[in-house]
Amino acid sequence: MIKSIKFSVVVCFVCLVVFPFSHLYAQSSLPSSFSFQSLTGIMLIIITLLILVLVAAIVLLLKVKEMNKAQFDIEKKNITQNISHYIQQFTKEQIDQYFEWKQKKVTKQHTYGNRHTTKILLLLMSVFSIQSLLAQPTQTVTGEAGIIITTILILTPILLGIIIMIVKVMSVLQKYRDNLKFKEAEKLADFLEKNEDTELADVLNQRKVALSFSLQNNELSGNALPLDERGLIQNSTIQGELPIAATKKRALKRPNIDPALSKLVLWYIGCAAFWLIFGTSIGEYLGIKFVAPDADHVSWLSFGRLRPVHTNAVFWGWASLGMLGLGYYIVPKVSNAPLASLKKGWYSLYLINAAVILGTLCLMAGINNAGGEYREYIWPVMLLFGIGLVLTLINFLQTIAKRTTKEIYISNWYIVSAIMFGLIIALVAYLPFWQDALGETIIQGYYMHQGVGMWFMLFTLGIVYYFLPQQLNHPIYSYSLGILAFWTQILFYTLIGTHHFVFSAIPWWLQTVAIVGSAGMAIPVIAGTTNFLMTFKGAWYKVADSYTLPFFLVGIIFYFSGSMQGTAEAFRSSNLIWHFTDFTVAHSHLTMYGIISFFLWAAIYAVVPRLTGKEAPQLTIGAHFWFALIGLLFYTIPLMIGATFKGNMWLEGKPFIESVVMMAPYWLWRAIGGSLMWFSHLLFGYNVYKMLVDTSNISVTDLAIEKLKLGNANTTETNTII
Ligand code: HEM
Ligand code: HEM
Repeated sequence: MIKSIKFSVVVCFVCLVVFPFSHLYAQSSLPSSFSFQSLTGIMLIIITLLILVLVAAIVLLLKVKEMNKAQFDIEKKNITQNISHYIQQFTKEQIDQYFEWKQKKVTKQHTYGNRHTTKILLLLMSVFSIQSLLAQPTQTVTGEAGIIITTILILTPILLGIIIMIVKVMSVLQKYRDNLKFKEAEKLADFLEKNEDTELADVLNQRKVALSFSLQNNELSGNALPLDERGLIQNSTIQGELPIAATKKRALKRPNIDPALSKLVLWYIGCAAFWLIFGTSIGEYLGIKFVAPDADHVSWLSFGRLRPVHTNAVFWGWASLGMLGLGYYIVPKVSNAPLASLKKGWYSLYLINAAVILGTLCLMAGINNAGGEYREYIWPVMLLFGIGLVLTLINFLQTIAKRTTKEIYISNWYIVSAIMFGLIIALVAYLPFWQDALGETIIQGYYMHQGVGMWFMLFTLGIVYYFLPQQLNHPIYSYSLGILAFWTQILFYTLIGTHHFVFSAIPWWLQTVAIVGSAGMAIPVIAGTTNFLMTFKGAWYKVADSYTLPFFLVGIIFYFSGSMQGTAEAFRSSNLIWHFTDFTVAHSHLTMYGIISFFLWAAIYAVVPRLTGKEAPQLTIGAHFWFALIGLLFYTIPLMIGATFKGNMWLEGKPFIESVVMMAPYWLWRAIGGSLMWFSHLLFGYNVYKMLVDTSNISVTDLAIEKLKLGNANTTETNTII
């Protein structure tokens, strides 16, 4: 049952995600007249519903098959076989009751009505209800916004109806199954009633004696306490109640990490968490502004100023500091050498934090680069960030040079190249030589996509290549696939910048190169996804046991779907509809949030407990995961659907303001999704606090041993080291 529900949920999800795409393909056959009023729109709803009904039908079919098998099994065995089987299942109380009854010779009548008719009726009713549900979407609809609201209103009860129908039919089937048991019980009672020989009484008496026997638990030992040489008894726990959430495996503490390096890594991660909460609080406010544009009239808080504050804070504060912090852990680890310079690590942290603080203040004060997106920080501010990167690059290269392993592990390939590309991109974006007219636009495209692809994506992939095998306790599936993905990513990603300006005045051939490169990106993405998923082979069961692996899995799924969505967006036919709409915003969050942020959370939850020996409560980690995931889906799916309508309205030449009015409900959904995501970040902040600072669950024995090790060191010092 759970499996079938999961399957249905997956199908629903796929339907929702492909909805905008199918809409697009419908467009090609009706180039200039697509509207939701048209038959195509209604057909799409019907197809979605048909798929849902099909899933429901498959679930029912499987259940009915199961039932038939059960009945066949019962009928196959002859009655005597069944009865001796049941007699062996009698409990002591049942045997007593039987003898009591026998003595009194009281005859009890058990009648059970035939429930078949009810079941068939209910089944038929359910089938009819499917038909009536299916009939609903063909209602006539008018007006764009009205159509959408009506569609949602129709879809909601239909979906609920399908769910209720499934539950109803399942309960009917359950009753049918019970009925079979009642019948068997009737036969057994009949046998017991008529049976007069003493043989049965003997068998039952023997069973009663056997059931009354109980071990004293010291048959093989004496009364003395056991000697627990392997610590097995101390490690066992008795769970007296049902847990609210499944208990996951606890992280292992790694004792051989230099405490000074630990501290550096933890500071990076702590700062990253701060910028995530700050940056997304701004994002949350921006999302609310779409629904309540007059929320404030303060220039510092205007949309135009706060938007870049959000994007830059999450880019350079959250994602970049998070990645670098994890890099400071991974690079020395896989090089099997100490970090070349802790000092450079700290300077880099100060510089990047200073850049984000100053950049934010400048942006809010209206001081910006006046240039393109994500390079709104003025150059002196970005210079601080750049110097921070140079220091880290030198540090990592020196560490790798001192490595004691023969090979350079693939994570280091990705991480070091990401920093190199990061620097090249920053230079290209900020040097003044190419910043005129179309040149600036080409640079902007190059900068934007190299930023996300060669800085964030490349670095994060390096992190996954280290932590995923570690968390699965499995080697990476294929080193060669990793290398293939690495080089093809460098080959194609560096060509695709101008896909941001399809149909612009940029030379047509250059746009075509970018589109071809975007299609070529399928190679590294498929290679990477395959490599990661195949690494799970034979270890899938570990996902249920771990609180980090679900984050990795979601990241991998969005790595594939988000990137492939990007390829789909780059084609001229689709870019015509989606460019300038909220579809790009949905894509940005599916990727920067679904891929980058989920991978970072996975790695942070994996590494911090190893460094501090403290874990966050599993309940709040689980809540973080679900709020973030559900919030992201609420944020992006409505935006994709609304944006598709919006693009089509523009193609039809409808007034711009109409498309704004039409988007209102979709923006409301975005604000709801954004609020869930934002709440999940507060939980993440709490979890980081629990993993870093909270001392309430420190073990006294751990403390005592640490104290012994450190001689007479005081407790405060001990805490920081643990
Ligand atoms: C196969 C890989 C990918 C392709 C082909 C691709 C393609 C695209 C295209 C065509 C656009 C521009 C849409 C438009 O303005 O009309 C876009 C925007 C964007 N993509 Fe991707 N994408 C890919 C992967 C990613 C990844 C992995 C990330 C993040 C890590 C990402 C982040 C973004 C962002 C942030 C934007 C918005 C840029 C803006 O503000 O205009 N993309 N992508
Ligand atoms: C609580 C979570 C978040 C909320 C509510 C949120 C909200 C927003 C809003 C309202 C915008 C402006 C969209 C527009 O101009 O139409 C935006 C843009 C953006 N946000 Fe977020 N955001 C969140 C988290 C994040 C995170 C964690 C990242 C990256 C790691 C991110 C990256 C971006 C990017 C790249 C853009 C520019 C999109 C584009 O131009 O295509 N956001 N966000």
